[in-house]
Amino acid sequence: MVAIYGYSKDQIFDAVKAMYTAVATRPEDPYHFPVGRAACRMLGYPDDLLQALPQDAVASFAGVGFPFRADVIRKGDVVLDVGSGSGTDALTAGRLVGPKGKVFALDMTSAMRDKLRATVTRLHLANVEVLEGTAEHIPLPDQSVDVITSNGVLNLVPDKRRAIAEMFRVLKSGGHIQLADIVITRPVTPDCRGDPALWAECVVGATIDEDYLAMFHDAGFLDIKVLRDFDYFAQSPSEETKSVASRFGARAVEITMRRGANAPHRLVQFAHRADPRRLVRAIERRGLWGMAALVLALIACYGTLAVVSVLPLVGLSLTIDEGLWTATIILFTGAVVVAVAAGRRKHTSFTPLILAIMGAGFVGYALLGPYDRLIELIGFALIAGATFLDLRLRNAARMDPHAAAADA
Ligand SMILES: C[S@@+](CC[C@H](N)C(=O)[O-])C[C@H]1O[C@@H](n2cnc3c(N)ncnc32)[C@H](O)[C@@H]1O
Repeated sequence: MVAIYGYSKDQIFDAVKAMYTAVATRPEDPYHFPVGRAACRMLGYPDDLLQALPQDAVASFAGVGFPFRADVIRKGDVVLDVGSGSGTDALTAGRLVGPKGKVFALDMTSAMRDKLRATVTRLHLANVEVLEGTAEHIPLPDQSVDVITSNGVLNLVPDKRRAIAEMFRVLKSGGHIQLADIVITRPVTPDCRGDPALWAECVVGATIDEDYLAMFHDAGFLDIKVLRDFDYFAQSPSEETKSVASRFGARAVEITMRRGANAPHRLVQFAHRADPRRLVRAIERRGLWGMAALVLALIACYGTLAVVSVLPLVGLSLTIDEGLWTATIILFTGAVVVAVAAGRRKHTSFTPLILAIMGAGFVGYALLGPYDRLIELIGFALIAGATFLDLRLRNAARMDPHAAAADA
Protein backbone atom coordinates (compact mmCIF):
# COMPACT_ATOMS: atom_id res chain seq x y z
CA MET A 1 0.00 0.00 0.00
CA VAL A 2 1.45 3.40 -0.96
CA ALA A 3 1.27 6.01 1.78
CA ILE A 4 1.16 9.66 0.83
CA TYR A 5 2.22 11.82 3.76
CA GLY A 6 0.31 9.68 6.24
CA TYR A 7 -2.71 8.91 4.03
CA SER A 8 -3.02 5.54 2.35
CA LYS A 9 -3.55 5.07 -1.35
CA ASP A 10 -6.98 3.62 -0.50
CA GLN A 11 -8.00 6.82 1.30
CA ILE A 12 -7.03 8.87 -1.77
CA PHE A 13 -8.97 6.44 -4.02
CA ASP A 14 -12.04 6.67 -1.76
CA ALA A 15 -11.98 10.49 -1.85
CA VAL A 16 -11.59 10.49 -5.64
CA LYS A 17 -14.43 7.96 -6.09
CA ALA A 18 -16.73 9.95 -3.78
CA MET A 19 -16.06 13.15 -5.73
CA TYR A 20 -16.66 11.61 -9.17
CA THR A 21 -19.68 9.59 -8.02
CA ALA A 22 -21.20 12.96 -7.15
CA VAL A 23 -20.26 14.40 -10.57
CA ALA A 24 -21.80 11.33 -12.27
CA THR A 25 -25.05 11.29 -10.31
CA ARG A 26 -25.58 15.00 -9.47
CA PRO A 27 -23.86 17.01 -12.23
CA GLU A 28 -26.08 20.03 -11.53
CA ASP A 29 -24.60 20.46 -7.99
CA PRO A 30 -21.97 23.18 -7.49
CA TYR A 31 -18.32 21.95 -7.79
CA HIS A 32 -14.97 23.60 -7.27
CA PHE A 33 -14.09 22.93 -10.91
CA PRO A 34 -15.99 23.55 -14.16
CA VAL A 35 -18.27 20.64 -15.15
CA GLY A 36 -20.46 19.69 -18.13
CA ARG A 37 -21.14 21.37 -21.47
CA ALA A 38 -20.04 24.83 -20.26
CA ALA A 39 -16.68 23.33 -19.22
CA CYS A 40 -16.30 21.65 -22.65
CA ARG A 41 -16.98 24.97 -24.42
CA MET A 42 -14.54 26.80 -22.18
CA LEU A 43 -11.83 24.21 -22.96
CA GLY A 44 -12.27 24.45 -26.73
CA TYR A 45 -14.52 21.49 -27.67
CA PRO A 46 -16.11 22.50 -31.00
CA ASP A 47 -19.91 22.94 -30.94
CA ASP A 48 -20.54 20.38 -33.72
CA LEU A 49 -18.60 17.75 -31.75
CA LEU A 50 -20.65 18.46 -28.61
CA GLN A 51 -23.97 18.42 -30.49
CA ALA A 52 -23.21 14.91 -31.74
CA LEU A 53 -22.89 13.61 -28.16
CA PRO A 54 -25.70 12.63 -25.75
CA GLN A 55 -26.58 15.40 -23.25
CA ASP A 56 -26.29 13.33 -20.08
CA ALA A 57 -22.81 12.01 -20.92
CA VAL A 58 -21.57 15.57 -21.54
CA ALA A 59 -23.35 16.82 -18.38
CA SER A 60 -20.87 14.88 -16.19
CA PHE A 61 -17.77 15.92 -18.17
CA ALA A 62 -14.99 16.85 -15.74
CA GLY A 63 -11.95 17.06 -18.03
CA VAL A 64 -9.37 19.84 -17.88
CA GLY A 65 -8.50 20.33 -21.56
CA PHE A 66 -9.19 19.30 -25.16
CA PRO A 67 -6.84 16.33 -25.80
CA PHE A 68 -8.12 15.89 -29.39
CA ARG A 69 -6.08 18.97 -30.36
CA ALA A 70 -3.26 16.44 -30.91
CA ASP A 71 -5.23 14.88 -33.79
CA VAL A 72 -3.65 11.42 -33.52
CA ILE A 73 -6.72 9.13 -33.72
CA ARG A 74 -7.38 7.48 -37.10
CA LYS A 75 -10.19 5.32 -38.50
CA GLY A 76 -9.87 1.70 -37.39
CA ASP A 77 -7.63 2.52 -34.38
CA VAL A 78 -7.90 0.82 -31.01
CA VAL A 79 -8.12 3.61 -28.40
CA LEU A 80 -7.94 3.48 -24.60
CA ASP A 81 -9.46 6.32 -22.57
CA VAL A 82 -7.83 6.25 -19.11
CA GLY A 83 -10.26 7.68 -16.53
CA SER A 84 -13.05 8.02 -19.09
CA GLY A 85 -15.66 9.36 -16.66
CA SER A 86 -19.11 9.55 -18.22
CA GLY A 87 -17.58 9.27 -21.68
CA THR A 88 -17.37 12.62 -23.51
CA ASP A 89 -13.91 11.69 -24.84
CA ALA A 90 -14.54 7.93 -25.23
CA LEU A 91 -17.67 8.62 -27.31
CA THR A 92 -15.80 11.23 -29.37
CA ALA A 93 -13.00 8.71 -29.97
CA GLY A 94 -15.67 6.14 -30.93
CA ARG A 95 -16.87 8.46 -33.71
CA LEU A 96 -13.29 9.05 -34.90
CA VAL A 97 -12.27 5.35 -35.08
CA GLY A 98 -15.53 4.34 -36.82
CA PRO A 99 -17.19 0.89 -36.83
CA LYS A 100 -13.92 -0.95 -37.59
CA GLY A 101 -12.14 0.62 -34.62
CA LYS A 102 -12.59 0.08 -30.90
CA VAL A 103 -12.55 2.26 -27.78
CA PHE A 104 -11.91 0.93 -24.28
CA ALA A 105 -13.22 3.31 -21.62
CA LEU A 106 -11.47 2.59 -18.31
CA ASP A 107 -12.59 4.09 -15.01
CA MET A 108 -12.39 3.11 -11.35
CA THR A 109 -15.60 4.90 -10.26
CA SER A 110 -18.62 2.63 -10.71
CA ALA A 111 -21.12 5.52 -11.02
CA MET A 112 -19.17 6.90 -14.00
CA ARG A 113 -18.92 3.44 -15.61
CA ASP A 114 -22.65 2.80 -15.09
CA LYS A 115 -23.52 6.14 -16.69
CA LEU A 116 -21.34 5.47 -19.73
CA ARG A 117 -22.55 1.85 -20.03
CA ALA A 118 -26.16 3.08 -20.07
CA THR A 119 -25.28 5.49 -22.93
CA VAL A 120 -23.46 2.77 -24.87
CA THR A 121 -26.40 0.36 -24.51
CA ARG A 122 -29.01 3.01 -25.36
CA LEU A 123 -27.17 4.09 -28.52
CA HIS A 124 -26.18 0.49 -29.49
CA LEU A 125 -22.53 1.48 -29.79
CA ALA A 126 -20.71 -1.71 -30.70
CA ASN A 127 -17.26 -0.08 -30.77
CA VAL A 128 -17.17 1.31 -27.19
CA GLU A 129 -16.46 -1.04 -24.28
CA VAL A 130 -16.48 0.08 -20.65
CA LEU A 131 -13.73 -1.42 -18.45
CA GLU A 132 -13.43 -1.53 -14.69
CA GLY A 133 -9.90 -0.97 -13.42
CA THR A 134 -7.32 1.57 -12.41
CA ALA A 135 -4.66 3.44 -14.34
CA GLU A 136 -2.05 1.55 -12.30
CA HIS A 137 -3.43 -1.87 -13.40
CA ILE A 138 -4.85 -1.59 -16.91
CA PRO A 139 -6.78 -4.77 -17.78
CA LEU A 140 -5.50 -5.00 -21.37
CA PRO A 141 -2.73 -7.09 -23.00
CA ASP A 142 0.71 -5.74 -23.90
CA GLN A 143 0.93 -3.63 -27.08
CA SER A 144 -2.80 -3.88 -27.83
CA VAL A 145 -3.68 -0.18 -28.25
CA ASP A 146 -2.90 2.40 -30.99
CA VAL A 147 -3.77 5.57 -29.04
CA ILE A 148 -4.26 6.42 -25.37
CA THR A 149 -6.37 9.45 -24.50
CA SER A 150 -6.82 10.81 -20.99
CA ASN A 151 -8.33 13.97 -19.59
CA GLY A 152 -7.81 15.28 -16.04
CA VAL A 153 -6.84 11.90 -14.58
CA LEU A 154 -3.11 11.41 -13.96
CA ASN A 155 -3.05 14.22 -11.39
CA LEU A 156 -5.49 12.10 -9.34
CA VAL A 157 -3.38 8.94 -9.54
CA PRO A 158 -1.19 8.32 -6.47
CA ASP A 159 1.41 6.14 -8.27
CA LYS A 160 1.98 8.10 -11.48
CA ARG A 161 5.14 6.25 -12.55
CA ARG A 162 3.29 2.95 -12.31
CA ALA A 163 0.37 4.34 -14.39
CA ILE A 164 2.79 5.67 -17.03
CA ALA A 165 4.57 2.29 -17.16
CA GLU A 166 1.16 0.65 -17.70
CA MET A 167 0.38 3.09 -20.54
CA PHE A 168 3.73 2.17 -22.11
CA ARG A 169 2.98 -1.55 -21.74
CA VAL A 170 -0.45 -1.54 -23.42
CA LEU A 171 0.48 0.91 -26.21
CA LYS A 172 1.83 -0.48 -29.48
CA SER A 173 5.34 0.55 -30.44
CA GLY A 174 5.00 3.94 -32.18
CA GLY A 175 1.47 4.40 -30.74
CA HIS A 176 0.43 7.85 -29.54
CA ILE A 177 -0.78 9.44 -26.33
CA GLN A 178 -2.97 12.54 -26.28
CA LEU A 179 -3.71 13.91 -22.86
CA ALA A 180 -4.88 16.89 -20.90
CA ASP A 181 -3.91 17.20 -17.25
CA ILE A 182 -3.07 19.54 -14.38
CA VAL A 183 0.55 20.41 -13.57
CA ILE A 184 2.05 22.78 -11.01
CA THR A 185 5.08 25.09 -10.87
CA ARG A 186 5.76 25.10 -7.12
CA PRO A 187 5.79 21.97 -4.95
CA VAL A 188 2.68 21.34 -2.88
CA THR A 189 3.29 21.60 0.88
CA PRO A 190 3.14 18.23 2.70
CA ASP A 191 0.05 19.13 4.79
CA CYS A 192 -1.97 19.99 1.65
CA ARG A 193 -0.69 17.01 -0.31
CA GLY A 194 -1.90 14.62 2.36
CA ASP A 195 -5.49 15.90 2.35
CA PRO A 196 -7.59 13.41 0.31
CA ALA A 197 -10.36 16.00 -0.25
CA LEU A 198 -7.97 18.54 -1.81
CA TRP A 199 -6.42 15.69 -3.83
CA ALA A 200 -9.80 14.87 -5.39
CA GLU A 201 -10.17 18.49 -6.57
CA CYS A 202 -7.31 18.08 -9.07
CA VAL A 203 -4.72 20.42 -7.51
CA VAL A 204 -2.59 18.81 -4.83
CA GLY A 205 -2.00 15.46 -6.55
CA ALA A 206 -0.50 17.31 -9.52
CA THR A 207 3.21 17.09 -10.38
CA ILE A 208 5.72 19.85 -11.15
CA ASP A 209 5.55 20.44 -14.93
CA GLU A 210 9.19 19.53 -15.58
CA ASP A 211 8.98 16.33 -13.48
CA TYR A 212 5.70 15.39 -15.18
CA LEU A 213 7.28 15.45 -18.66
CA ALA A 214 10.42 13.73 -17.30
CA MET A 215 8.33 10.78 -16.03
CA PHE A 216 7.13 10.10 -19.59
CA HIS A 217 10.64 10.55 -20.96
CA ASP A 218 12.07 8.16 -18.35
CA ALA A 219 9.44 5.55 -19.26
CA GLY A 220 10.49 5.57 -22.95
CA PHE A 221 8.12 8.03 -24.62
CA LEU A 222 9.47 10.19 -27.47
CA ASP A 223 8.56 13.45 -29.22
CA ILE A 224 6.82 14.79 -26.12
CA LYS A 225 5.13 18.07 -27.09
CA VAL A 226 3.11 20.48 -24.98
CA LEU A 227 0.44 21.77 -27.36
CA ARG A 228 -1.24 24.17 -24.94
CA ASP A 229 -0.58 25.44 -21.42
CA PHE A 230 -3.32 27.56 -19.84
CA ASP A 231 -4.89 28.83 -16.62
CA TYR A 232 -7.68 26.26 -16.18
CA PHE A 233 -8.45 27.36 -12.61
CA ALA A 234 -9.21 30.95 -13.68
CA GLN A 235 -12.64 29.54 -14.61
CA SER A 236 -13.19 27.83 -11.24
CA PRO A 237 -16.40 28.93 -9.50
CA SER A 238 -14.56 28.71 -6.14
CA GLU A 239 -12.35 31.58 -4.92
CA GLU A 240 -10.66 29.15 -2.52
CA THR A 241 -9.72 26.73 -5.32
CA LYS A 242 -8.44 29.67 -7.40
CA SER A 243 -6.28 30.78 -4.50
CA VAL A 244 -4.88 27.26 -3.76
CA ALA A 245 -4.22 26.79 -7.50
CA SER A 246 -2.38 30.09 -7.83
CA ARG A 247 -0.19 29.35 -4.77
CA PHE A 248 1.16 26.27 -6.52
CA GLY A 249 1.08 27.70 -10.07
CA ALA A 250 -1.47 24.99 -11.04
CA ARG A 251 -2.65 25.02 -14.65
CA ALA A 252 -3.74 22.67 -17.41
CA VAL A 253 -1.60 21.31 -20.24
CA GLU A 254 -2.46 19.43 -23.41
CA ILE A 255 0.33 17.06 -24.40
CA THR A 256 1.07 14.57 -27.14
CA MET A 257 3.86 11.99 -27.52
CA ARG A 258 4.60 8.60 -29.05
CA ARG A 259 5.86 5.36 -27.58
CA GLY A 260 9.46 4.36 -28.31
CA ALA A 261 10.24 0.77 -29.34
CA ASN A 262 11.49 -0.36 -25.93
CA ALA A 263 11.37 0.93 -22.37
CA PRO A 264 14.85 2.08 -21.30
CA HIS A 265 16.72 -0.42 -19.10
CA ARG A 266 16.06 0.06 -15.36
CA LEU A 267 19.62 1.29 -14.88
CA VAL A 268 19.15 3.93 -17.59
CA GLN A 269 15.86 4.98 -15.98
CA PHE A 270 17.64 5.23 -12.64
CA ALA A 271 20.42 7.32 -14.23
CA HIS A 272 17.79 9.71 -15.68
CA ARG A 273 16.20 10.09 -12.27
CA ALA A 274 19.52 10.57 -10.49
CA ASP A 275 20.66 13.30 -12.91
CA PRO A 276 22.37 15.86 -10.61
CA ARG A 277 20.82 18.79 -12.54
CA ARG A 278 17.35 17.46 -11.66
CA LEU A 279 18.42 17.04 -8.04
CA VAL A 280 19.71 20.63 -7.86
CA ARG A 281 16.46 21.98 -9.35
CA ALA A 282 14.37 19.87 -6.92
CA ILE A 283 16.39 21.19 -3.93
CA GLU A 284 16.00 24.76 -5.20
CA ARG A 285 12.22 24.47 -5.72
CA ARG A 286 11.65 22.94 -2.30
CA GLY A 287 13.92 25.43 -0.49
CA LEU A 288 16.11 22.56 0.79
CA TRP A 289 19.56 24.19 0.45
CA GLY A 290 19.86 24.55 4.25
CA MET A 291 18.97 20.89 4.76
CA ALA A 292 21.43 19.79 2.03
CA ALA A 293 24.26 21.84 3.58
CA LEU A 294 23.45 20.40 7.03
CA VAL A 295 23.62 16.83 5.69
CA LEU A 296 26.99 17.61 4.05
CA ALA A 297 28.31 19.15 7.30
CA LEU A 298 27.25 16.04 9.27
CA ILE A 299 28.77 13.70 6.67
CA ALA A 300 31.99 15.75 6.66
CA CYS A 301 32.16 15.61 10.46
CA TYR A 302 30.82 12.23 11.61
CA GLY A 303 31.07 10.41 8.25
CA THR A 304 34.81 11.09 8.11
CA LEU A 305 35.21 9.98 11.73
CA ALA A 306 33.32 6.75 10.99
CA VAL A 307 35.44 5.99 7.91
CA VAL A 308 38.69 6.69 9.79
CA SER A 309 37.68 4.38 12.65
CA VAL A 310 36.34 1.53 10.46
CA LEU A 311 39.23 1.32 7.96
CA PRO A 312 41.78 -0.16 10.45
CA LEU A 313 39.34 -3.04 11.07
CA VAL A 314 39.91 -4.14 7.45
CA GLY A 315 43.67 -3.54 7.57
CA LEU A 316 43.63 -0.10 5.92
CA SER A 317 44.42 3.29 7.30
CA LEU A 318 43.67 6.88 6.29
CA THR A 319 45.36 10.00 7.54
CA ILE A 320 43.33 13.14 7.26
CA ASP A 321 44.57 16.69 7.23
CA GLU A 322 42.88 18.10 10.34
CA GLY A 323 43.02 21.68 9.06
CA LEU A 324 41.28 20.71 5.81
CA TRP A 325 38.73 18.58 7.70
CA THR A 326 37.87 21.42 10.10
CA ALA A 327 37.67 23.93 7.23
CA THR A 328 35.25 21.66 5.31
CA ILE A 329 32.91 21.30 8.31
CA ILE A 330 33.00 25.05 8.94
CA LEU A 331 32.36 25.74 5.24
CA PHE A 332 29.20 23.56 5.17
CA THR A 333 28.04 24.94 8.54
CA GLY A 334 28.43 28.45 7.14
CA ALA A 335 26.46 27.38 4.06
CA VAL A 336 23.55 26.41 6.37
CA VAL A 337 23.63 29.89 7.92
CA VAL A 338 23.60 31.50 4.46
CA ALA A 339 20.68 29.28 3.30
CA VAL A 340 18.68 30.04 6.47
CA ALA A 341 19.43 33.76 6.06
CA ALA A 342 18.02 33.56 2.52
CA GLY A 343 14.82 32.01 3.96
CA ARG A 344 14.21 35.24 5.89
CA ARG A 345 13.22 36.91 2.64
CA LYS A 346 10.36 34.38 2.32
CA HIS A 347 8.97 34.36 5.86
CA THR A 348 10.54 37.43 7.55
CA SER A 349 11.21 35.62 10.90
CA PHE A 350 14.64 36.13 12.51
CA THR A 351 14.38 33.09 14.81
CA PRO A 352 15.86 30.42 12.45
CA LEU A 353 18.76 32.73 11.56
CA ILE A 354 19.55 33.44 15.22
CA LEU A 355 19.46 29.69 15.99
CA ALA A 356 21.67 28.91 12.99
CA ILE A 357 24.25 31.57 13.96
CA MET A 358 24.31 30.27 17.55
CA GLY A 359 24.68 26.68 16.31
CA ALA A 360 27.50 27.64 13.93
CA GLY A 361 29.17 29.47 16.83
CA PHE A 362 29.03 26.34 19.00
CA VAL A 363 30.38 24.11 16.22
CA GLY A 364 33.14 26.63 15.40
CA TYR A 365 34.12 26.91 19.09
CA ALA A 366 34.20 23.10 19.48
CA LEU A 367 36.38 22.70 16.41
CA LEU A 368 38.72 25.68 16.74
CA GLY A 369 38.97 25.89 20.54
CA PRO A 370 39.57 23.05 22.98
CA TYR A 371 37.59 20.23 21.36
CA ASP A 372 34.39 19.38 23.22
CA ARG A 373 32.05 16.72 21.74
CA LEU A 374 29.04 17.95 23.75
CA ILE A 375 29.39 21.56 22.54
CA GLU A 376 29.73 20.30 18.98
CA LEU A 377 26.55 18.21 19.33
CA ILE A 378 24.63 21.15 20.81
CA GLY A 379 25.82 23.24 17.87
CA PHE A 380 24.57 20.73 15.29
CA ALA A 381 21.26 20.34 17.17
CA LEU A 382 20.73 24.12 17.03
CA ILE A 383 21.60 24.20 13.32
CA ALA A 384 19.21 21.29 12.62
CA GLY A 385 16.43 23.09 14.57
CA ALA A 386 17.11 26.25 12.56
CA THR A 387 16.83 24.48 9.18
CA PHE A 388 13.60 22.65 10.14
CA LEU A 389 12.03 25.83 11.49
CA ASP A 390 13.10 27.77 8.39
CA LEU A 391 11.51 25.11 6.16
CA ARG A 392 8.27 25.13 8.16
CA LEU A 393 8.06 28.91 7.99
CA ARG A 394 8.80 28.93 4.24
CA ASN A 395 5.97 26.40 3.67
CA ALA A 396 3.61 28.36 5.91
CA ALA A 397 4.46 31.56 4.01
CA ARG A 398 3.64 29.82 0.74
CA MET A 399 0.28 28.67 2.08
CA ASP A 400 -0.65 31.87 3.90
CA PRO A 401 1.66 34.87 3.47
CA HIS A 402 -0.22 36.93 6.14
CA ALA A 403 0.00 34.24 8.85
CA ALA A 404 3.74 33.83 8.23
CA ALA A 405 4.29 37.57 8.55
CA ALA A 406 2.34 37.53 11.83
CA ASP A 407 4.47 34.60 13.09
CA ALA A 408 7.59 36.68 12.61
C1 LIG B 1 -11.51 14.67 -13.60
S1 LIG B 1 -12.46 13.25 -14.00
C2 LIG B 1 -12.34 13.26 -15.76
C3 LIG B 1 -13.30 12.33 -16.42
C4 LIG B 1 -13.25 12.30 -17.94
N1 LIG B 1 -11.91 12.07 -18.45
C5 LIG B 1 -13.80 13.58 -18.52
O1 LIG B 1 -13.04 14.26 -19.22
O2 LIG B 1 -14.95 13.89 -18.25
C6 LIG B 1 -11.36 11.97 -13.52
C7 LIG B 1 -11.89 10.57 -13.76
O3 LIG B 1 -10.79 9.68 -13.59
C8 LIG B 1 -11.18 8.58 -12.78
N2 LIG B 1 -9.98 8.15 -12.07
C9 LIG B 1 -9.30 8.83 -11.13
N3 LIG B 1 -8.24 8.12 -10.72
C10 LIG B 1 -8.25 6.97 -11.42
C11 LIG B 1 -7.40 5.82 -11.45
N4 LIG B 1 -6.35 5.73 -10.66
N5 LIG B 1 -7.71 4.83 -12.30
C12 LIG B 1 -8.81 4.92 -13.12
N6 LIG B 1 -9.64 5.97 -13.13
C13 LIG B 1 -9.36 6.99 -12.29
C14 LIG B 1 -12.26 9.14 -11.88
O4 LIG B 1 -13.10 8.11 -11.45
C15 LIG B 1 -12.96 10.13 -12.79
O5 LIG B 1 -14.02 9.55 -13.48
